[in-house]
Amino acid sequence: MTFEGGEGSGKTTQAVRLCRSLTERGYTVLQTREPGGTLVAERLRSILLERSAEPMAPETETLIILAARRQHADQVIRPALARGVLVICDRFSDSTLAYQGYARGLDLNILKRMNAWATGGLTPHLTLHFDLPVATGLTRRRREALSQNRLDLEATRFHTKVRAGFLALAKREPRRIATIDARQSPEAIALQVETLVLKRLRSLRVNPTHHH
Ligand SMILES: Nc1ncnc2c1ncn2[C@@H]1O[C@H](COP(=O)(O)OP(=O)(O)O)[C@@H](O)[C@H]1O
Ligand SMILES: [Mg+2]
Repeated sequence: MTFEGGEGSGKTTQAVRLCRSLTERGYTVLQTREPGGTLVAERLRSILLERSAEPMAPETETLIILAARRQHADQVIRPALARGVLVICDRFSDSTLAYQGYARGLDLNILKRMNAWATGGLTPHLTLHFDLPVATGLTRRRREALSQNRLDLEATRFHTKVRAGFLALAKREPRRIATIDARQSPEAIALQVETLVLKRLRSLRVNPTHHH
């Protein structure tokens, strides 16, 4: 399962809540995030997010993200899935399409093939897409003064393209990607997330691994 959406759309807040709720229901859950999730990938994450005087080409950005994704897929995601663990990943391949494709203008077909190559074809069973007006997301993030990373500092126009990108992706793959109105209260969103996830788990015939 992946959580996608712009900055400040509530992905992390909701991932934490969903993990708690699924764990209470007896599922074994792993919460992780991209870029990152392994020692090597977290180092690549720092390179990506730190504010630096040296400009970074979108291609460089993409290659670093994909290097981190491969490491994460090999070291964390695939082994967890093989043990029957539910993996909840905060950002994944769709973020690359939205940010480096729709927003930075790299070729979407190339990015899709690179994603497939980097992940060995790993595709989420369900993607929750948190949709929020750009200004609302940035205001939420800017309340946390310390967490202004390189991407938060991009112009509003950039974040508007990211948002349109996620909406276009969701439109193309409505079975995998569910869009959630992220303007709602955290409680209302959590309820919607839980309903969607439990329904998908039932249709995939995934049952809790232990009972309380
Ligand atoms: N539904 C919501 N309504 C208002 N504020 C929210 C909501 N969800 C999260 N927040 C707050 O907005 C900020 C960004 O949320 P976060 O979950 O970190 O977003 P993301 O991981 O998508 O960047 C946090 O300060 C969080 O407490
Ligand atoms: Mg987050």
